[in-house]
Amino acid sequence: MLFGKQEDRPVLDKNNIPVHIAAIMDGNGRWAQKRGLPRTAGHSAGSEAFQRAAEYLQSLGVKYFTVYAFSTENWKRPEEEVQAIMGLLDRYLRKAIREMAEKNIRLHFFGDLEPLSDNMKKLIAETNEISRGTTGMQVNVCLNYGGRDEIVRAVRSLARDCARDGMPPEAITEELFSSRLYSANIPDPDLTIRPGGELRLSNFLLWQNAYSEFYFTDTLWPDMDEAELDKAIAAYQGRKRRFGGI
Ligand code: FPP
Repeated sequence: MLFGKQEDRPVLDKNNIPVHIAAIMDGNGRWAQKRGLPRTAGHSAGSEAFQRAAEYLQSLGVKYFTVYAFSTENWKRPEEEVQAIMGLLDRYLRKAIREMAEKNIRLHFFGDLEPLSDNMKKLIAETNEISRGTTGMQVNVCLNYGGRDEIVRAVRSLARDCARDGMPPEAITEELFSSRLYSANIPDPDLTIRPGGELRLSNFLLWQNAYSEFYFTDTLWPDMDEAELDKAIAAYQGRKRRFGGI
């Protein structure tokens, strides 16, 4: 089913669909407040928007979709809100475990999963197991994720190789560094979408976003339907990517 006003929809160039799209799912709280609902209702609507977006992007041929679900800083939120987000993730993972093979979606997780509950870790292990057998779009859920934390972990891992195994520091290349990130083996995002009106990166994929095209919109994440995603992709298709060249 298609959402959004058809007359506003740009026509997309099907030969220039971004391979990897990343999104900061911002604006859930404000979406709920505007409707006089608790913030948690906004996250619930945000979770539905995420599932709708994943299905739509897969239908367009996007190969990787990375979303910021919970940052290393989000633990500072009220306990009730943290629990509500974890509850939505729990529900999503249970559904995904049932449907992943059928929908041919692969799920990966970026972040420090150690502090998560045993239940969540078990669900993640199960989805990783199923992912081994699926070949379709890869969805990366950033969970207890921080871009700086990811970089520090990569540095530590390389420092260990130098100190323990005698690797010369000159052996550290951009490729080797990238291979120590959560995103090892997947291409950098081509397009990073931030709804919700803020114009910042908020510690999201700091290394990987070096040459991503950015799309900022005031639309709140739960309202990011197919028509709004088309606008973001059309904006990307209108950009000239030079990667530092001329
Ligand atoms: C930011 O909006 C959103 C979050 C911190 C949580 C995002 C989580 C979900 C959409 C639910 C679970 C995810 C999956 C993958 C099933 P905000 O609360 O900062 O909004 P505001 O800026 O309007 O307050």
